Amino acid sequence: MQTNILSLCYLIGSVSFIIGLKMLSHPATARKGNLAAAAGMAIAIAGTLFLYRPAGIEFHNFQWIGSALIIGTVIGSVAARKVKMTAMPEMVSLFNGMGGLCAALISIVEFGHIAQDHAAMHVLSIIAGMIIGSVSFSGSMIAYGKLSGKITDHAFRGQHIFNLVILFVILVMSALIVMGYIAVPIFIFCIILALSLVYGILFVLPIGGADMPVVISLLNSFTGIATACAGFLYNNPVMLTGGILVGSAGAILTILMCNAMNRSLKNVLIGSFGGAKGASGPAAGGEGAYKEISLNDAAMVMGYAHKVIIVPGYGLAVAQAQHACHELEKSLRENGVEVKYAIHPVAGRMPGHMNVLLAEADVSYDDLLELEPANEQFSSADVVLILGANDVVNPAAENDPASPIYGMPILEVGKAKLVIVNKRSMRPGYAGIENQLFFLPNTSMLFGDAKDVLQQLISQVKAL
Ligand code: TAP
Repeated sequence: MQTNILSLCYLIGSVSFIIGLKMLSHPATARKGNLAAAAGMAIAIAGTLFLYRPAGIEFHNFQWIGSALIIGTVIGSVAARKVKMTAMPEMVSLFNGMGGLCAALISIVEFGHIAQDHAAMHVLSIIAGMIIGSVSFSGSMIAYGKLSGKITDHAFRGQHIFNLVILFVILVMSALIVMGYIAVPIFIFCIILALSLVYGILFVLPIGGADMPVVISLLNSFTGIATACAGFLYNNPVMLTGGILVGSAGAILTILMCNAMNRSLKNVLIGSFGGAKGASGPAAGGEGAYKEISLNDAAMVMGYAHKVIIVPGYGLAVAQAQHACHELEKSLRENGVEVKYAIHPVAGRMPGHMNVLLAEADVSYDDLLELEPANEQFSSADVVLILGANDVVNPAAENDPASPIYGMPILEVGKAKLVIVNKRSMRPGYAGIENQLFFLPNTSMLFGDAKDVLQQLISQVKAL
């Protein structure tokens, strides 16, 4: 009876993960999806604590488990509430690292059981979980350090070869343990553990700081695989399902991000792109002259326009200007202007960044245009207002084969009658390259912090 209820708990947990993941694919249902998956996880944990009794063994250590659950819940909830949207990738990295560490710890604890249980598949899942979990842990910690500005990029000559050698040694030693060729496996196991941690560090250290979101997604996938190994080891369906879902979702997301940037994973992992500090690179030299537009004129052309398309980018998130942006939209609508938002799939620094940001300000999903419909509508727009976006509107992606972003689909804002670009300076964006859009005859620059500029635009539009 107890076992049946436990199986039901695991079934509910597994199904809620799948439904939750499906709901996460749309901003309107994402919050509920997250809650559904969390509820399923809570049921699975409660079931394990109170109903899992293999061969009548009693559970102990409730005080430790309870304390860990409370401490983890408090830290997780406070951190998730306090984190700024722009710091989300580093929090994801930190939490992902903890997941990897848990999976590695499970393998370390269970390695002691190998003496009694020599089933090769079990040994394999223990070692695979330990290697992948350790790489994910140390790699995620480095990614976290880079994103929070505590660690800078480091590479030495021949590092990629050195990394491959470490990986080769790890794999050979692991194969020897799995095949039972090693007399004192615990010693070799510790060496594999140490090498895996070192590999995680060396694997992430040379990658450009700005490429971290893609790397985090890949490491997230690793954590999922490590968890699936633990699920296989314990014959626990909910861990297995959760691990497979995280592993495959992370891998798919990694590929999607690379495709949206028109870069291969290899190029992300061993190529150099952008700088460690992304948008805070040096001021661009500037080719040709750019025009500026005054706040007054910008408010005037938008207030009397027929159609305005807003293009949000990373700078809007930095300025936390999403609410002001929605206010401007409402003021323009009151003047009879049609307003839409053009959303590029990799605008910002994480998947869906702009959708989440605008949803926070209650912007209607119906007003968001994806890349292709937006590109069809730009020619009918009187004004395109770019708020802190740069690379995603850079025409070099279409017409400069030498550009690092060549081939990346962009928002073709130049088709509009007038393009107003709001940013603080002529500095480049994430890719560290100049943007010829700023020098086109129908483009005007409106310098300033996005929030300040938007607040002033709102009052000017209201005064029209
Ligand atoms: P970026 O090209 O990074 O440009 C952002 C611009 O915002 C900068 O040029 C900056 O110029 C401006 N800015 C910064 N703070 C501002 C503020 N307070 N007010 C006004 N402007 C401000 O951003 P994007 O166009 O959104 O493109 C995203 C880039 O990130 C792409 O290259 C993409 O490939 C990459 N990327 C995205 C992802 C995902 S999944 N979204 C993952 C990895 C990489 P100033 O300094 O002059 O103000």
